Amino acid sequence: MATKATITFDSDSPPIDLPILKGSLGTDVIDIRSLGKHGYFTYDPGFMSTAACNSDITFIDGEQGLLYYRGYPIEQLAENCDFLEVSHLLLHGELPNVDQREAFVSTIKQHTMLHDQMSNVFRGFRRDAHPMAVMIAVVGAMAAFYPDNNDVSDPALRKTAAIRLLAKVPTIAAWSFKYNLGQPFMYPKNKLGYAENFMHMMFATPCEEYTPNPILAKAFERILILHADHEQNASTSTVRLVGSSGANPFACIAAGIASLWGPSHGGANEATLNMLEEMGDVSRIGEFIKRAKDKSDSFKLMGFGHRVYRNMDPRASIMRKTCHEVLNELGLHDDPMFKLAMELEKIALEDDYFVTRKLYPNVDFYSGIVMRAMGIPNSMFTAIFALARTAGWISQWCEMNADPEQKIGRPRQLYTGAERREFLALHER
Ligand code: SDX
Repeated sequence: MATKATITFDSDSPPIDLPILKGSLGTDVIDIRSLGKHGYFTYDPGFMSTAACNSDITFIDGEQGLLYYRGYPIEQLAENCDFLEVSHLLLHGELPNVDQREAFVSTIKQHTMLHDQMSNVFRGFRRDAHPMAVMIAVVGAMAAFYPDNNDVSDPALRKTAAIRLLAKVPTIAAWSFKYNLGQPFMYPKNKLGYAENFMHMMFATPCEEYTPNPILAKAFERILILHADHEQNASTSTVRLVGSSGANPFACIAAGIASLWGPSHGGANEATLNMLEEMGDVSRIGEFIKRAKDKSDSFKLMGFGHRVYRNMDPRASIMRKTCHEVLNELGLHDDPMFKLAMELEKIALEDDYFVTRKLYPNVDFYSGIVMRAMGIPNSMFTAIFALARTAGWISQWCEMNADPEQKIGRPRQLYTGAERREFLALHER
């Protein structure tokens, strides 16, 4: 395999040799760091062909439709683990043994409550505030309540920040939902598992006993695992770029939540359900497919396509299976929304437009249907994606801060604006 690339020019500029770096898996990269001193930049809007960092955490093979967390296939983790085991894997690089698991879970449970003053941050919002707007504010506000985490150079403090975020973001997400409902905040119950506790804080009230359905709780753990990390996607890249300036972890994660909110990214799960609800019936599938193919229409088929996957997103397959399980558990196997989604998937995957562009369902296509069936409103879907992705974001943030190669992120540009010109006084313009 090649060990260097040589750029030659159709001018008298001498060729430039650039080293090729190889990872443990995946695509080799051409190291262009020296290119600037030869008087050139590269141009890659959207980073279609750019590796922004090296990472040991997650690997995707888009052609094969593979996803590994620290080398373990997502299918095996989704089947055999719970979310905190996977969070430990992402953060520390290994699945925990019995003692490590007990210590990690116990530590998380000691941090699930918010500082009591933080409840006032919620109350600054109108009751109809989107949960993602509330989460951005409250997670960002954590920097004011835990200023000791502003020193990002200390590995121990970085790990404390990771624990605080993993433990508190479910409480923040659930309270964002309760605030919308006008119901009292439910405090975490530390005897419950991670997903059970979140369901308790979402659906319990002080007025009556609430016992999370164990089948739904297990399905919810799987949903969280599927969303936990995904290489250098837009929100993770946002966390890294914000973190590269030395910003505190809470500001970085708040920025990640903001980026995830976009409908092209994590907001697609909410947009997919809204699209299916608008579509309403299989008789309208053709109309929406036609719109998705019409270049004069900005409409995209929500839940379809992916920057990296040119095959089925492995998470979508697991999510479809989870859909079946949850709907059967709830006696909703005839759920019209699920039937509509499966028919839409079938028709799209037979359509040349989608086939030639290798557009397949992604993780957001089925996740909304599962969460809706569990009684979670559309507006909370991306908040739950953010809850899960906090594990990946904070793991990547810790990795970046420990990376000796890390520098402040400062991309260059291709300038296409006005050349130098002289100022004209007002009456001369
Ligand atoms: C997530 O990066 C990650 O890893 C993200 C994520 C994660 O876990 O972090 O996996 C989570 O964000 C999943 C993606 C959720 N978004 C959606 O479902 C929204 C709908 N999808 C599209 O917006 C789009 O597919 C993107 C944004 C996901 C990917 O866009 P790209 O990589 O920039 O690809 P593109 O827009 O250049 O598409 C290539 C072609 C274009 O057509 P042509 O110019 O070749 O004619 O495919 C078309 C696009 O118009 N296309 C679609 C389409 N997605 C791509 N056409 C219709 N419907 C779509 N959904």
